[in-house]
This record gives sequence, structure tokens and C-alpha cells, in this order.
Amino acid sequence: MGQNKGEQALELLISRAEIAEAVTRLARQLESDYPQEMPLLVAVLKGSFVFLADLVREIQRPVEIDFLRLSSYGGGTSSSGSVRLRMGVTTPIRGRDVLLVEDIVDTGLTTFYATRYLKRNGASSVRVCTLLDKPARRQAAIIPDYVGRTVPDRFIVGYGLDFDERYRQLSDIYVMTGAGDGP
Ligand code: PRP
Repeated sequence: MGQNKGEQALELLISRAEIAEAVTRLARQLESDYPQEMPLLVAVLKGSFVFLADLVREIQRPVEIDFLRLSSYGGGTSSSGSVRLRMGVTTPIRGRDVLLVEDIVDTGLTTFYATRYLKRNGASSVRVCTLLDKPARRQAAIIPDYVGRTVPDRFIVGYGLDFDERYRQLSDIYVMTGAGDGP
């Protein structure tokens, strides 16, 4: 099942079929939880672009999107612990229900920062939808409202998630071994 892509070994963790099942389940939950109007979906770049693209196409309702760009990781496999805002939203969010869309909540620092940013800019509600949740490494008190899959404390790539900007394009999700698994 392993796949070698250069010096790192990749082990399949979540197949594209399992991802699709999770995305479908999340879309149905969101449609049911927001019966009147879908919230503004704000995706955190870069990692969440693939998940967002699949999620909006699965939601059977009109939906608006915007993007935030934050950065918490350096070039390695563990968080630097500091979050920086690189690009804010352009949609007026005052009084809007917002759904923050993440590929993964790991330490939770990115989500904590993004949630605070959205509330400070007047969002009337902020919920968090993440494809992957890695609760083992949490440093901020974040419990995502919508979770596709809970994942173990391993370094994960594919489906938008990178290692040094590689592997984002992979359609399945892998555990990367051979370059350190974090602290
Ligand atoms: C990754 C991921 C999340 C964040 C989660 O982004 O896409 O946004 O880390 O980690 P945390 O819960 O420990 O804060 P990253 O900063 O690597 O940038 P990228 O999305 O551009 O790859």
C-alpha cells in the first residue's frame, strides 16, 4: 500500500473514496444545520483549497466563499507556534454567519487566530468545519463543529496538505514517514 515519492515514504491513510464519503456527510450536515441560508465559507489557504472545492460542489444550495491566508508552519514538519495573517477576507462579514473551512486542525493555533479575526471583524457566528482533526497535538482550546475524520499524531500530506509545498495535488491522504514525524 505504501507509495514512494522521492526520499519520503507515503503510506495511504484515507482513500479518495473515503474522503468523498466524509465530504458528502459534512455537506448534508451543513444543509441541515443552516436551513435558511448557507453561511459564508471562509477557507484558510493554502491547504484547504481542495477540500473547499469538493465541499461547495457537494452542497446543494447557493453558497458564497472567501479566503484567509494564514501561516503557522515553517518549512518543516512541526508548527512554529506562531500564526501570521498574510491575507484577509474581502467580503464584508459584519453580521454574517461564517463557516471557517480547514483542511486540518492540529495545534488549533491557526483556527484560534482565524476565529478571533472573524469575530473581531463582526461575524455574528463562527463555526469550524475541518476535514481532518488531530486532537493529540492541541495547544488552543478548539473543538471543531464539523469533522471529516480524526487522524493520529502523524505527519499527513495530500488532498491540499503539503510537506515543503509538495504533495498538495495528491487525491488521497497519506502519512509521510522518513523525514521526521514532528517533535
Ligand atoms: C496548516 C493547515 C492548517 C494549519 C493547522 O497550514 O493547512 O491551516 O496548518 O495547524 P495548527 O492547527 O497547528 O495551527 P500551514 O500553516 O502549514 O499553511 P498552508 O495551509 O499554506 O500549508
